[in-house]
Amino acid sequence: MSLLDKINTDNLPKHLAIIMDGNGRWAKQKGMLRAFGHENGTKSVRMTVETCAKLGIANLTLYAFSTENWNRPKLEVDTLMKLLINSLKKELKTLSENNIKLNAIGNLDLLPKSAKKELFEVIKNTENNTRMTLTLALSYGSREEIVSAVKEISEKVKNNIISIGSIDESIINQHLYTRNLPEVDLLIRTSGEHRISNFLLWQIAYAELYFTPVLWPDFKEEDLYEAIISYQKRERRFGKTSEQIK
Ligand code: IPE
Ligand code: IPE
Ligand code: MG
Repeated sequence: MSLLDKINTDNLPKHLAIIMDGNGRWAKQKGMLRAFGHENGTKSVRMTVETCAKLGIANLTLYAFSTENWNRPKLEVDTLMKLLINSLKKELKTLSENNIKLNAIGNLDLLPKSAKKELFEVIKNTENNTRMTLTLALSYGSREEIVSAVKEISEKVKNNIISIGSIDESIINQHLYTRNLPEVDLLIRTSGEHRISNFLLWQIAYAELYFTPVLWPDFKEEDLYEAIISYQKRERRFGKTSEQIK
């Protein structure tokens, strides 16, 4: 029995999020520059997007660049931005052929003009696609997202659009960049690090966490299947007892 056969397609995560980590270490192990790792990481991105669409996962969110990643050496930041632009150019066809809609979350205003232009073009071109929503977290930081939500809500309170009393979890959800996405069911992080690094802090409140030592450029279909199989073996209790769930 192959790993794929072990997946129950009736119990897929509705929203899978991935912290794609380990490109730099992968390159270093091979005696290459970090950029080589990032280039090879794009192959894992393509495989993951296509495999998730084929499986029937409705929402895939990929952490591609954090607010903190702006503090890396300029050369690396430039390389990552160039890769982003090239990938967007190259992958529009794949997204269209697979009926995938592109979405982006983060402080996108900080992206270079050319990257923003390319990004919004692909988003526009794929807006009517329905099979899967692929969200790229770019210049994304969960704390920054929460700050921006608090500002927007405060503005509305000030202008009497909403009352303080009506602020609840759903209002907060509606002011996050992820407002149109369901809760995260499964969060995968590659590269053996056991941390969240400012990714979707609010949204992963009840997500199942899966950590693998595999470095992102080495991440293959089978690694994705294993994560989903692990997810499907877990009992999600949401605070209740096991008996209540059954
Ligand atoms: C993930 O790989 C890609 C980004 C954060 C942009 P890293 O570049 O963080 O690789 P490591 O963690 O240094 O190996
Ligand atoms: C998190 O990885 C950000 C992305 C994968 C885009 P980092 O490599 O930046 O995280 P830290 O610095 O190890 O926590
Ligand atoms: Mg890293």
